[in-house]
Amino acid sequence: MTALPPDDFALAARSTPLARFVLDAIDATEARRITFAEFMALALGHPEHGYYSRADLAWGARGDYETSPEVHPIFGYLWARQVLECWERLGSPARFDLVEVGAGSGAFSVAMLTWLRARAPECFAAVRPVLLDGHPHRLAAQRATLEAAGFTAEHALLDDSLARPERVTGVVISNEFFDALPVHLVTRRGDDLREWYVARAVLGSPPGSAPSPLAGEGRAGGPPDLDALTLVEDTPSTPALAEHFARLGMLPGDGARAEVGLASIEAMHRIAAKIERGYVLTIDYGYEARDLYASWRREGTLMAFRAHSPVPDPLSEPGRTDLTYHVDLTSLAAAALDAGSDSDGGWHAAPPTSQAEALTVLGLPDALRAAESRAAEDALRFLGDRRAADTLTDPTGLGRIRVLALARGVDLDGLACLRTVGEAYGERAPRA
Ligand SMILES: C[S@@+](CC[C@H](N)C(=O)[O-])C[C@H]1O[C@@H](n2cnc3c(N)ncnc32)[C@H](O)[C@@H]1O
Repeated sequence: MTALPPDDFALAARSTPLARFVLDAIDATEARRITFAEFMALALGHPEHGYYSRADLAWGARGDYETSPEVHPIFGYLWARQVLECWERLGSPARFDLVEVGAGSGAFSVAMLTWLRARAPECFAAVRPVLLDGHPHRLAAQRATLEAAGFTAEHALLDDSLARPERVTGVVISNEFFDALPVHLVTRRGDDLREWYVARAVLGSPPGSAPSPLAGEGRAGGPPDLDALTLVEDTPSTPALAEHFARLGMLPGDGARAEVGLASIEAMHRIAAKIERGYVLTIDYGYEARDLYASWRREGTLMAFRAHSPVPDPLSEPGRTDLTYHVDLTSLAAAALDAGSDSDGGWHAAPPTSQAEALTVLGLPDALRAAESRAAEDALRFLGDRRAADTLTDPTGLGRIRVLALARGVDLDGLACLRTVGEAYGERAPRA
């Protein structure tokens, strides 16, 4: 028998149903490479095998990562208090749009609507809930979740909704939506901006290209893996990348890798253009541009996750791996401000705050006190509630998520979620 290297447990795992489509997309190009943004769009959004298009996508503890609405409904209850204030600031209109973009399992909308129905029936009667997502499987699952909780909402594909002429009066809210949109990967070399492309590891690398900055998995020794992917560096695919940094008046550190979320900036621009009067509340991992592109940040913020663990190679197991990054909050705010001039109502942006601060000033300590007062009746429940509060405000985890608040044609000053703890509680210090 021919002498072969030892068998490789990783081989089957590397070959996902989507891998073939990625290789076909690479082979269909003249340069035999696609931008990382094109790769990420396929990996997350391919109509059949993309991470967010799969019928069997699991959320929360059973999925690959846990988002705040999956930790505990208190997250949605507290944000519903903010929604109520937005409705009041808009003059308590008889019809009020509550739009959630990238609604995941539907848990966030269910929690907000549950609170409004119980605590603010007048506002609830005015609310027209809309859930927008990127794939029919997600819409169907969200519809089933809302119906099971007794709510009727409009469910639509984001692109279809944005293409319609109707404008929104109300609140557009999202949690970890923008950080799931495709990014271009770039590196600055002196005065030049370069871009990273995805190519076949063995056949695709153009002569002279730099080695991939991302780790490969299980490729040491053995025969060459003809289907393996790598990153190769070349001139940018679009002038929009250099224009992005020119607009910001900064560049990443020399030799550092960075992400440019052109898709998230465009999405924010289109969402903001839909709003007649109201608020956009964006809850997402992110930084202001000066922090995102600080010269000390050498590896960017791109991360890959499977089963709650970071994965070293974002190119591995496409379609089974969640890919995410930290959004550029400065550019997201600018994209909204660009969408409407002061003469037609104007957009206003507030400096971003953290989730830990926002949930605290929206009433998390008071909710905990109420839970504590019932601890003797149901200690386990209280302990679970307290653990959830810690998780949602953990400054090294979900608590460091940022909140970007934008408003058009309505006051942003003093919005409940933007207050400092001192402003919200005065002398009465919150007890967390
Ligand atoms: C990280 S998940 C967050 C889900 C939910 N908001 C939560 O917090 O649990 C990202 C969400 O954005 C949706 N999404 C991703 N790409 C999208 C796109 N291009 N258009 C609309 N929705 C998209 C996904 O299907 C998913 O619902």
